[in-house]
Amino acid sequence: MPLTESHTPTQTVASPSLILGIESSCDETAAAVLCSERGLLSNIVASQDEAHRPFGGVVPEIAARAHMQKIEAIIDQAMNDADVQYDALSAIAATSGPGLIGGVITGLMAAKGLSASLDIPLIAVNHLEGHALSPRLSDACPFPYLLLLVSGGHSQLLAIHGLGDYERLGSTIDDAAGEAFDKTAKVMGLGFPGGPNVERWAEGGDDRAVRLPRPLLDRENCDFSFAGLKTAVARAYESSDKSDAAKADLAASFQTAVADCLTDRTARAMQQFSAAQDGPYRFVIAGGVAANRTLRARLINTAETHGFTSIFPPLKFCGDNAAMIAQAGLERLQAGRVDPLSAPARPRWPLDQSAARTAPASGSGRKGPKS
Ligand code: KG4
Ligand code: ZN
Repeated sequence: MPLTESHTPTQTVASPSLILGIESSCDETAAAVLCSERGLLSNIVASQDEAHRPFGGVVPEIAARAHMQKIEAIIDQAMNDADVQYDALSAIAATSGPGLIGGVITGLMAAKGLSASLDIPLIAVNHLEGHALSPRLSDACPFPYLLLLVSGGHSQLLAIHGLGDYERLGSTIDDAAGEAFDKTAKVMGLGFPGGPNVERWAEGGDDRAVRLPRPLLDRENCDFSFAGLKTAVARAYESSDKSDAAKADLAASFQTAVADCLTDRTARAMQQFSAAQDGPYRFVIAGGVAANRTLRARLINTAETHGFTSIFPPLKFCGDNAAMIAQAGLERLQAGRVDPLSAPARPRWPLDQSAARTAPASGSGRKGPKS
């Protein structure tokens, strides 16, 4: 079969549909089985935290090797847990970008092999679309809704109008929020991954103790910036006495600064979103940083003030997982949007292509807009 042909051997979507989802774009190797009628049947996530911990961040080469070593076993485990035979699958959905290219290739190649050998469609999913549709795994969350995606690699505000219809309202112009948490933890030696550790230290600190900047606050658009905040934290730590009390105060001050920035930008996006359409208005927060309790409380408040209902997907669907990839795959399969076996692995892949082309949030490189 030519690789460029759309691989839809049977064309008709069998009911119920069974989708195997595969995720490997960063440091989680994950597989999940989703049924259109019975819901999520399995959801396996193998974290690589232990392997990356000594380096205080994700090392791409280590991540790629770990994905290669684990991917087959994780897929098998997801199929076993779901009690589903391979020949019962309707389609394979895999993250094909954006992300660390070694990992993306590993998951996508596994998916292509299964798609070709089982003679079923391949669905090449944008990782960000997986996050965007993740609330639809668990909550009644009809389109449209406003999404704040805050993870280790991304910080974006998106209006989710429908499947494949995503409008970027704002985006980080430098670091992602999770990256700022991870780098702050690294500077203070709080451990990896940074977010949960900063949150734990912040509990015992005074969030007014250290004056930190709030980049882009009150700007007209909905963009974020965290690089200056991260540098300010590093300076403040250098000039502190590095005691536990100083660390707790700095962690708390940093966390509040991030929350101030995110709530300010989100409030602006809420105004834009509700000015453009009728209610009811729903607000979803997804991505690993959504686990932060201070941030959640602040955002719930912001949502209430602006007449939005808050929807927080369960934490297992907030961080990287394959259930959200299977969800995007199922929705795409039902809409007849499947991909050829030549679908490329993409290190960069903006979700809102038109916004990225006209106004790349973090510049354009040789390979096109970065976000
Ligand atoms: O979505 P995710 O699992 O992976 C990416 O796609 O990046 O997000 C991981 C990020 C990391 O930067 C981690 O430090 C952050 O989410 N994170 C948190 C918390 N838990 C995880 N950030 C702040 N507070 C937390 N409790
Ligand atoms: Zn992610």
